[in-house]
Amino acid sequence: MTEEEAKKRIEELRKLIEYHNYRYYVLDSPEISDAEYDALMRELMELEEKFPQFITPDSPTQRVGAPPLEVFPTYRHRVPMLSLQNAFSEEDLIAFDRRIKRFLGMDEKEIIEYCAELKMDGLAVSLVYENGILTHGATRGDGFEGEEVTPNLKTIRSIPLRINIPNPPAFIEVRGEVIMHKKDFEELNRQRAEMGEPLFANPRNAAAGSVRQLDSSITAQRKLDIFCYGIGYCEGYEFQTQYQVLETLRSWGFKVNPHFRLCKGIEEAIEYCREWTEKHHELPYETDGTVIKVNSIALQNELGTLARSPRWAIAFKFPAEQGITQIEDIIVQVGRTGTLTPVAVLKPVEVGGVTISRATLHNEDEIKRLGVKIKDWVVVQRAGEVIPEIVAVVTSRRTGEEIDFKMPDKCPVCGSQVVRLPDEVAYRCINYSCPAQVKERIYHFASRDAMNIEGLGKEWVDKLVDSGLIKDAADLYYLKLWDLLKLERMGERLARKLLDNIEKSKNNELYRLIYALGIRHVGESTARLLAQHFGSLERLMNASLEEIAQIPGIGPVVGESIYRFFREPHNRELIEKLKKAGVKMTEEEKVGPEEKPLAGQRIVFTGALRSMERSKAEEIVAKLGGIPSSSVSRNTTLVVVGENPGSKYQRAIELGIKTINEEEFLEMIRPYVEV
Ligand code: IVH
Repeated sequence: MTEEEAKKRIEELRKLIEYHNYRYYVLDSPEISDAEYDALMRELMELEEKFPQFITPDSPTQRVGAPPLEVFPTYRHRVPMLSLQNAFSEEDLIAFDRRIKRFLGMDEKEIIEYCAELKMDGLAVSLVYENGILTHGATRGDGFEGEEVTPNLKTIRSIPLRINIPNPPAFIEVRGEVIMHKKDFEELNRQRAEMGEPLFANPRNAAAGSVRQLDSSITAQRKLDIFCYGIGYCEGYEFQTQYQVLETLRSWGFKVNPHFRLCKGIEEAIEYCREWTEKHHELPYETDGTVIKVNSIALQNELGTLARSPRWAIAFKFPAEQGITQIEDIIVQVGRTGTLTPVAVLKPVEVGGVTISRATLHNEDEIKRLGVKIKDWVVVQRAGEVIPEIVAVVTSRRTGEEIDFKMPDKCPVCGSQVVRLPDEVAYRCINYSCPAQVKERIYHFASRDAMNIEGLGKEWVDKLVDSGLIKDAADLYYLKLWDLLKLERMGERLARKLLDNIEKSKNNELYRLIYALGIRHVGESTARLLAQHFGSLERLMNASLEEIAQIPGIGPVVGESIYRFFREPHNRELIEKLKKAGVKMTEEEKVGPEEKPLAGQRIVFTGALRSMERSKAEEIVAKLGGIPSSSVSRNTTLVVVGENPGSKYQRAIELGIKTINEEEFLEMIRPYVEV
């Protein structure tokens, strides 16, 4: 392929990928399958690897892989990000409408047009586009200055990297709320509990914690979304109304919450608040109220702002949904990696239209923090909504009959010793063969996003493990028809179907297998990265820690966890058994690192470089398939010597390793990158 052809195809692919991104992440209505999308992305990555001179900051490949930061730079907003006055009742809203009319010298009977919106509960951010390209993204901070978190925000797929219209504004600050959907929040906390990591109190904290990560590869693994609701400074575009702002942002490819409404007069706005007070629980993300904004921008300007909030807008807060009930018992569940999770069994109580009968207590620290005992009366709240929380103990209702809860020192399932590891909040059963852990690992292995073995639900996994027919996920592939027929309520048709589905899963894409192994910190997206990079399980399994950690999009913690997983004998045994059963362990099209110009090279820099920062040089080495290393060893293949080299230069000479100077290094990389 000529340079010219590559450039054309790269541009074509970027348009296609961003279009499908938009269909999937903004419109929630994909037109192509995940596999087709992955293939487009793979093709683009390969072309950009071969022709790095065409990599641009708005390429979809640039959403992941920025090197970690030491600190966040500060970012000064051109127009401050204000907060809102609050209304807690309909009277407060009527008073707000009156205040506005008085300020504008209007008659009480006149009607003001409002734009009513949902108030999303997340983290406020400002996205800066210069000539249509996303150049900065920042948190609100104190309203005037925030933290610049551009690499992190770029990992959020519903944030456009460019405004795809013929004449985009020369400069615009788009304001929005980064949120985490309730189901993604629950999944994240479930994983964190499993790993013994501290939990996020609610989706808002989870979203904020994820955006404020110095290592954007961690943000990339969190499922975040955005709703844009306004603009700050704007050059080259005029808006007349808030309604038009929302419509325009939507037409430019931004994700805008669809539930906004034009209201003629405060009564209609109050009606909007009433409706959403009733049904906001049904939304898949959290909202803590509505925002009522004067629709006309001219009137907004006339009204101006108070010290910290505009006169023209107000937040109506939904009342908190809480209930009171009694804890009947506290039971302990055992997760995939042996984590013990205490769960409160509640006397059923209705909160906001849903009956609650269980609430997670997360871990022992949480029980201590709440001071909760069995038989206590407690306040329960729907926060993450599906999994309710206990917020407080009603100590005034104590009778003296309450019973202290103690975490068991034996696993409630297998009776093995439990341990609490240093720096972890969770207790774990350390018996790898504990039936609870075995079952959880197999549930995960067979689950939809992993090996996707249809029909193999928890119920059958339980029966297979309990009857001794399987001891690990690989045993699934050795099951025979007569084995399955031994199970209660298993007919021949069902058994054949199940065996068929197990058989089919042998040919899954590699990332599914990697994800299914249940490596700590490896979610589906990391599994895809690994599959793409290594092309086979064998290569991944034998990769060095350095090789794993240099993959763009994989940070040090994740890298360490992957490396350690493959050093465990039982994990290697499982993989061997899967392989013998005929489970496919390679990617169809191999994108092996050997195709890259510096593949197999371990390169060390010593001394100062004149033409670029060392980190930049290392980044280039990694991009070209080499492994940048910090110290010289026998495995080092090349040492680049800058000004005033240190002891590494000595060592290279002692070990007889090839050395080159900066000029030679530049020569070497010039065909592939612009320097
Ligand atoms: S308008 C000057 N609209 O609520 C106007 N804010 O206290 C300021 N929020 O954290 C904000 N949804 O990010 C506006 N539809 C919406 C909103 C919204 C959520 C957040 C905002 C900020 C807080 C304002």
